[in-house]
Amino acid sequence: MIPNRKECLRLMGEYGMLENIIAHSLEVAKVALFIATELNKRGERISLDLVEAASLLHDLTKTECLKTKEDHARTGAQLLKGIGYERVGEVVGQHIWLKKENDPSSISEEEIVNYADKRVMHDRIVPLEERFSDLKERYGRDREAIDYLDRMEREIYGIEQKIFFILKIDPNDLLHPLGFV
Ligand SMILES: [Fe+2]
Repeated sequence: MIPNRKECLRLMGEYGMLENIIAHSLEVAKVALFIATELNKRGERISLDLVEAASLLHDLTKTECLKTKEDHARTGAQLLKGIGYERVGEVVGQHIWLKKENDPSSISEEEIVNYADKRVMHDRIVPLEERFSDLKERYGRDREAIDYLDRMEREIYGIEQKIFFILKIDPNDLLHPLGFV
């Protein structure tokens, strides 16, 4: 079962997401849907409904977690699975770190949402490089934190290569308005 856009927006309101996190999520959904639609045109079979719902809801519990310091990927997954959205919960649970190793022969909804989140800084589409330098500035307080972000950055470049090898466009083309909503 996958909630439609209207239901996602209702949930976002119900769980009291901060305005800026909602704006971020809407932009992530645009990027993820664009990528998924373009991949499908080239023969992939990505569930657009799943990509849209998981993008909209990926930070559903982040506002709460800013206070509790819990892992919002984990609590978001838990909440969504608890209300019957099992698959959406799985994707949300992997929006920070992917569970499976990168399989070069296939692309998953998890990877698309994870990647789209890393291309949107606040509510603006940026190159990975800019997103990670911002993350390192904000969260890279010691060696361990920087290593953590470096690992994440390496992983996501692998996903970027795989996606754009199929799309045959430059990752930076996402920076320009592409006429998608
Ligand atoms: Fe997040």
